[in-house]
Amino acid sequence: MSDLVDVVVYGSSGRMGQAVVRTILESDKARLSCALVRPGSGLADEPLDRVFGTQQRVVDFSTALDPDVPCDVLVDFSGPHAFDAALALAVERRSAFVSGTTGLRDEQRAALDRAAQTIPVLWAANFSLGVAMLLRVAKRIGAALPDWDCEILEMHHGRKQDAPSGTALALGEAVAESRGSTLPERAVFARIDRTGPRQPGEIGFAVLRGGDVAGEHTVLFSTAGERLEITHRAASRDIFARGALAAALWIAHREPRVYSIDEVLSPGGV
Ligand SMILES: NC(=O)c1ccc[n+]([C@@H]2O[C@H](COP(=O)([O-])OP(=O)(O)OC[C@H]3O[C@@H](n4cnc5c(N)ncnc54)[C@H](OP(=O)(O)O)[C@@H]3O)[C@@H](O)[C@H]2O)c1
Repeated sequence: MSDLVDVVVYGSSGRMGQAVVRTILESDKARLSCALVRPGSGLADEPLDRVFGTQQRVVDFSTALDPDVPCDVLVDFSGPHAFDAALALAVERRSAFVSGTTGLRDEQRAALDRAAQTIPVLWAANFSLGVAMLLRVAKRIGAALPDWDCEILEMHHGRKQDAPSGTALALGEAVAESRGSTLPERAVFARIDRTGPRQPGEIGFAVLRGGDVAGEHTVLFSTAGERLEITHRAASRDIFARGALAAALWIAHREPRVYSIDEVLSPGGV
């Protein structure tokens, strides 16, 4: 048996799908066993080497997963409309399932939990390992310095639709939870006019937009006379692809259950 982990990519014609395919082609631990695209896609049956310029002749883009194609892990970066089919395929093949698809409905999150009774499952809104670490550290600081003021600042390119980013909200949630509270109880999303003094325990959000910034998040903790800031800067979406591949390699042969991106980080540390 080969030591390489066989990965099938779902949504492989998309921006993230292509980044994941490229990351797998560069890896000496994983093998791309199939790059799936939707039926009717302009890339169906297109030779992969024409798109990625790789010398490695691996597989072509395909619209279906043949039963004899090995699949240890199915990696999905598609969309909420395609997600159910991706999960069903992983369950049918009894392969691990790694998904970064966002905008899932509650029923789809529940389907992930059900699938985890038979296959290992890891879903994350942000596959950056640096952001996973930022979340872990923010939680620790929030709990260790419960009286310090916490504010969260994020910046993204001007085309981003939602604000604050899902990652900024997750950071706020982590700090609120570390202080025995919830984000809705603590969050302040806008300060205009005469808002009066800052209330103890508030978690304030500030949002910047512009240029081609892939994503920057800073969590600030401040008290009289001192301020602690922790920042993560993403240079490109390749970091999400690398994190997803790290997760895929990590989860490949584990027991069925729901795993989190935090578990992919080395245990211990902070
Ligand atoms: N977790 C993270 O770290 C992270 C990071 C970045 C993005 N994301 C999320 O990842 C997802 C993809 O993002 P993206 O920027 O790569 O989007 P994208 O460029 O629009 O790619 C979406 C892909 O899904 C495919 N697809 C859509 N509907 C389908 C269907 N019904 N059946 C089969 N395939 C279908 C598309 O195929 P066609 O090209 O044929 O339409 C395309 O390959 C989004 O949910 C995004 O929010 C997550």
